[in-house]
Amino acid sequence: MKYLELDSGKLRVSNIVLGCMRINNLDEAGVEKHVRTAMEAGINLFDHADIYGGGECEELFARALHMNSSLREKMVLQSKCGIRPGYYDFSKEHILESVDGILQRLHTDYLDILLLHRPDALMEPEETAEALQSLFDSGKVRYFGVSNHNPAQLKLLQRAFGQKLLFNQLQVSVAHTPLVDSGMAVNMFIDQSIDRTGSTLEYCRLNDITIQAWSPFQKGFFEGPFLGDMEKYPELNRKCEELAEKYNVTPTGIAVAWLTRHPANMQVILGTTKDSRILEGCAGSELPLTREEWYGLYKAAGNMIP
Ligand SMILES: NC(=O)c1ccc[n+]([C@@H]2O[C@H](COP(=O)([O-])OP(=O)(O)OC[C@H]3O[C@@H](n4cnc5c(N)ncnc54)[C@H](OP(=O)(O)O)[C@@H]3O)[C@@H](O)[C@H]2O)c1
Repeated sequence: MKYLELDSGKLRVSNIVLGCMRINNLDEAGVEKHVRTAMEAGINLFDHADIYGGGECEELFARALHMNSSLREKMVLQSKCGIRPGYYDFSKEHILESVDGILQRLHTDYLDILLLHRPDALMEPEETAEALQSLFDSGKVRYFGVSNHNPAQLKLLQRAFGQKLLFNQLQVSVAHTPLVDSGMAVNMFIDQSIDRTGSTLEYCRLNDITIQAWSPFQKGFFEGPFLGDMEKYPELNRKCEELAEKYNVTPTGIAVAWLTRHPANMQVILGTTKDSRILEGCAGSELPLTREEWYGLYKAAGNMIP
């Protein structure tokens, strides 16, 4: 397992993360086994959000593990806030209230990382920064980041906030590649040239912001896994199978490796509820795909290499 050393080594996080959005499909015993499997495989970062299962996922996580201080210290707990039913809310009042709810549900008195979930078009940067600063000062949150933000949105918040924003959680997989597409086809009259992210990947690299890849196995917007979909992704699946055999892993490991091979040092958030798939995913943590293989997978997913 590869680890990223952030904040001069004070924050050490595995590059494979366990996403907890779907854990309410498991019972308590299942959640405990799932999380223990992840920890034994070297995963130390767990991704939550106040809205997952309407709060049930955080609650179930803490209850199933009988959260206590010795276990808590072995984990890096991350959660997100800012999404409300039908709208986004980065107001100070909502952020502070959300974090209190998260801490209560996770049975802890601090979060390692808080992310703002989706950009609030009505954000007042100074007000949002004031909320984050007060969470830092009170010891309720150690580190901060955002999710689904473009460079200008990041800059707007960062300008008002005294602590460095360390993370940007974004949808990315070999079947969902807007982050790399336009950079691969600069200055051309083709759809792939359209910059849908405002060069977010390059901005994050330039500013040491770690990208956390959500939905690493999904096609579209939660339309099911591309792995095994021979109708829509026959070439990609064939290529994953071929490389899986070469590296003695499964196609899941190859899909993860496509992300971890990128020099941006991305983290990959696994959303599986199957213990076996956690292990298959972890096998891609440090798998050194060659340039030819990385580009081959990108092309097999239906993209052009001009
Ligand atoms: N910031 C954001 O806006 C945002 C949005 C969405 C998610 N997230 C985070 O990212 C995490 C991961 O997202 P995700 O759950 O969508 O990611 P995912 O890992 O791409 O998808 C997981 C789902 O795909 C299924 N699956 C994976 N591989 C499969 C295969 N080979 N065959 C059949 N089914 C397969 C899993 O089923 P099994 O359970 O049966 O394995 C599970 O239902 C979430 O838990 C959450 O923490 C963040």
